[in-house]
Amino acid sequence: MRDRIELAAREILGARYCVALTGAGISIESGIPAFRGPGGLWEKIDPEIAHIDTFRRDPAQVWRLLIRGMQEVLRDARPNPAHVGLARLEAWGLLQGIITQNVDGLHQKGGSRAVVEFHGSFARQRCTACRRRIPTEALDLAHAALPPRCGCGGILRPDCVFFGEVIPPDALQRAHRMAAECNLMLVVGTSATVQPAAMVPLRAKEAGARVIEINPDPTPLTRQVSDLLIRGKAGAVIAALVDAVARLRQASTK
Ligand code: APR
Repeated sequence: MRDRIELAAREILGARYCVALTGAGISIESGIPAFRGPGGLWEKIDPEIAHIDTFRRDPAQVWRLLIRGMQEVLRDARPNPAHVGLARLEAWGLLQGIITQNVDGLHQKGGSRAVVEFHGSFARQRCTACRRRIPTEALDLAHAALPPRCGCGGILRPDCVFFGEVIPPDALQRAHRMAAECNLMLVVGTSATVQPAAMVPLRAKEAGARVIEINPDPTPLTRQVSDLLIRGKAGAVIAALVDAVARLRQASTK
């Protein structure tokens, strides 16, 4: 793996415009279970619970079975070395932005500023009637009747994208612009199975970018799109990658 880390570090240093696409795998080491694979959320509950039609039919059930549990898990989650490492690359001007499928806000908590929340954010709740937004942490779900309601009486919902909903147009546009602009894309901790996020690395490839995957396992991208797969956990791989970049930067300034 060391050679691949070294190669990836040189590519990051030499890139004109580097972008990262991240998925649930980058937050597993922060205690947030992924969706697919061993121990994944969709092994425990039917993904239908996260479909907008289910929410419209029975919001109290979706709050009870999915959303309340998400708040408990996300509330105590902290950024791990992978989030912090990407923020360091951004601070050094070596990473121009992150497109994340995650709704946990850990990239921002880890110090990243240019973050496109492709599936929205769990940090905010939105009223389905007056569309007012309130911070999720303001909700006392332990005692609130479900579904929680806005002051206007409307039902609250996370400001995230449910299955069956479109990606927020602004996020979609920014993500596609970054994919078209970049000449290096790091794809970290995603199974690359959910559209349209899984198309983003393809767009980068079509635009001539190199694609480097960081994942313990191969994905559908690995054979067709990725130029390099660094097999490992995001925390350790990105920490090693950032150290290698730091060493190369130091060597080049001597
Ligand atoms: N570091 C990096 N990657 C990891 C780690 C780790 N420590 N552990 C597991 N992975 C990888 C798995 O191999 C898998 O490829 O993370 C990926 C997690 O895949 P998913 O659970 O499918 O997560 P993601 O790709 O983000 O899902 C996309 O699907 O359910 C929807 O909206 C949800 O945003 C989510 C979307």
